[in-house]
Amino acid sequence: MIRKNYKVFIAYHGTYSEKGSKQDAEDLRKYLLNHGFSESEIFFFPSKEGGAYKANVIDALSSQTFILVYNENLKLEDNGIIDHKEHYELCTEIDAFYALTQLGNDVGQNDAKALYVGNMDIHHRGDESLLHPLFKDIAQSATSKEDKETAFEGILKWINIRLSTQEKDDNNNQIRNIEFFDDNIEERRRLERQQKFLLKFDASTYDYHLKDMKNINILDLGCSNGRGVMERLGKREGLYNRLIGIDSSASSIDEARYYYDNKNISFYVVDVESEDFLPKMHGIMKQEGIDGFDFINCQSLLLHLKNPFNVLKSVRSLMNDGGIIFILDVDDGLTLAYPDNDHLISHLFDIDYQLPTTGNRHCGRTIPGLLSLAGYKNIVLEKAGINTCSLTHEERETLFRFNYDFIKAGLEKTIKKDPDNKEMQNHLKWVIKMGDEMEKRFYSDSFFFTYGDVIITAKK
Ligand SMILES: C[S@@+](CC[C@H](N)C(=O)[O-])C[C@H]1O[C@@H](n2cnc3c(N)ncnc32)[C@H](O)[C@@H]1O
Repeated sequence: MIRKNYKVFIAYHGTYSEKGSKQDAEDLRKYLLNHGFSESEIFFFPSKEGGAYKANVIDALSSQTFILVYNENLKLEDNGIIDHKEHYELCTEIDAFYALTQLGNDVGQNDAKALYVGNMDIHHRGDESLLHPLFKDIAQSATSKEDKETAFEGILKWINIRLSTQEKDDNNNQIRNIEFFDDNIEERRRLERQQKFLLKFDASTYDYHLKDMKNINILDLGCSNGRGVMERLGKREGLYNRLIGIDSSASSIDEARYYYDNKNISFYVVDVESEDFLPKMHGIMKQEGIDGFDFINCQSLLLHLKNPFNVLKSVRSLMNDGGIIFILDVDDGLTLAYPDNDHLISHLFDIDYQLPTTGNRHCGRTIPGLLSLAGYKNIVLEKAGINTCSLTHEERETLFRFNYDFIKAGLEKTIKKDPDNKEMQNHLKWVIKMGDEMEKRFYSDSFFFTYGDVIITAKK
């Protein structure tokens, strides 16, 4: 379990190059050490490059403020954003902290700042809007020693302001930034089990739509660690030219890249609901040499979105004519348990419905209408509900476990946030007490259960 909590993360570029910003970053670190900070409160990675980025991502996610120290040698792409290939580790750190700010947790975009050290007019170059959406605010400094001191003084003042508003929440509880990352690892493992199980349910629909396709471009929305899309589409030889996965979670993308990145497959940290979703996607498509996508894959994402209509509409604009969107999502209205006279199983799903962590559990029924409004055609409800008929013992176990564990974890998460919530505490006690009984029910041949997932396809 990761339990670091840095007050300041200092990022820089060009570790081994004299043209990089390492020296200025180091000077900033020394300045902070001379002004009340201890070594353990500042994350600064002075020597290693390459291979260290995974650890740095975790450190970025457990930092309260993020400072990028850079100069005019920071290599930018044609469209003005930081060159990802040139500065991979740096971009991963920035993306990680950015993802954290987008989650509406303890850290927001005001907790990040870029510090330019040099004589160029950055405002003229437009760095504020171009470098990365994380940096709304760039502090400029000049190369003279005095100017640098003034800039460092400004940064120190800013950090102290940020930390003093951030150390405690409204209830005077100590805030920790790390919670999301810990939770996410567990959540990713749960998803993997669910994904494996659903393969049997969704395979025939993929087979049907992909049978005549070759060399297409695929986009997976909300790809998590990539395992789901790789199992379904990634292994099909000759199917795709490019397969792109996007997710707002930097740690998931980090894992996806680690396992699957190759010349045809890439993963990017992208929030599909952010204001710059389309420009960011256009940048990625340009970089990847993609004019339009032929197949959009979207599993268990729409239920989590604030405005799925906007996302479906934007995504349609990235598709080639005749391109297909494949959506799998949930609708608990289709859940059915029989026999369940004592309402054991139906009560479990009632609790699920009340949880603030589970998204829109009635999302499935809204999707055909939203697709139509967003301009899609040939909308087909391919499947509605997955049931226990002909499932093996192991499959029944998985079906039970991913539902039960998900609800239990949701209750625990809710109680952690709201420790006085008696209703949720009672639910959790009940769920734990009845767990074995529920599990046994799933193993009985005479028990019939339908899980409310739907598969919907449509065309541009
Ligand atoms: C339930 S998981 C599904 C993951 C994967 N598609 C699967 O079926 O296993 C939802 C995923 O959507 C991602 N996600 C949630 N909101 C997002 C957003 N606004 N933009 C991009 N990804 C998002 C989450 O980080 C998570 O990985």
